[in-house]
Amino acid sequence: MPLSFEILRDAAAMRSRAEAQRRCGKRIAVVPTMGALHDGHLSLIRAARARADLVVATIFVNPTQFSPGEDYAQYPRSESEDAAKARAAGADLIYAPRAEEMYPAGYDTYVDVTALSEPLCGASRPGHFRGVATVVTKLFHATRPHVAVFGEKDYQQLVIVRRLSRDLDLGVRIVGMPIVRADDGLALSSRNAYLSPDERRDATALYRGLEAARNRHADGEREADDLVACARAAVDAAPRAELEYAEIRDAETLELVRRVDRPAVLAVAARVGSARLIDNTVLSE
Ligand code: PAF
Repeated sequence: MPLSFEILRDAAAMRSRAEAQRRCGKRIAVVPTMGALHDGHLSLIRAARARADLVVATIFVNPTQFSPGEDYAQYPRSESEDAAKARAAGADLIYAPRAEEMYPAGYDTYVDVTALSEPLCGASRPGHFRGVATVVTKLFHATRPHVAVFGEKDYQQLVIVRRLSRDLDLGVRIVGMPIVRADDGLALSSRNAYLSPDERRDATALYRGLEAARNRHADGEREADDLVACARAAVDAAPRAELEYAEIRDAETLELVRRVDRPAVLAVAARVGSARLIDNTVLSE
């Protein structure tokens, strides 16, 4: 790997590099990731490349966003492959801090985006979004970006990070990029690696359910219960998939919506084997 492509591990070194770039008038974009990069992540890096002079991809499997009993220890880690992929997609450098540096002994400060973190994934993963908001704040402080690019697959996360940037006056423009799907419709996720071939087939039920609901919405259906029932039926018909939630919520406030008379998101989560998968589609009025 040429010297110009570096992996920085130290927040102070990352910040001084970013500050130097800013002093020269360069725009910085960051793509926060937990590694195990797939084409979805690479689309984010390409989007960042189109918006900035310096593109930083961060790789950090963040312990504070995993609850006890979740897959923190098993989460796939492949740093050197990730670095090569990130570089090919247009990243200029990688920031990959160590957990001991991010959360040294005595660490005691967290960022909570309160109401937006309660529903959907927040209901079954207590503390998850507090961990996400905290690490994203720390990653922004280290990388000093003008722009940060996130995927729409983690829709609630995207809405939370937008609010965080606004509420804490971080001045980072948050860009959301469309979900990237496999040929069978399954949304790309690092956790798809946990699926057996049978589970993988059943996992496509999330997408099929969303498509059924989208089609009904396109035909004029506006009742949230009816649209949710389409998504639910597809997942219920897949023997290895167990639905956790299917809900329609306001696209910005995440409040429950009974009639889709404003932009809304139909979001689903299901367990398929040992994987917990999420997916969504945005419905305009
Ligand atoms: O979406 C992810 O991979 C993570 O939640 C993020 C934003 C990198 C924070 O750890």
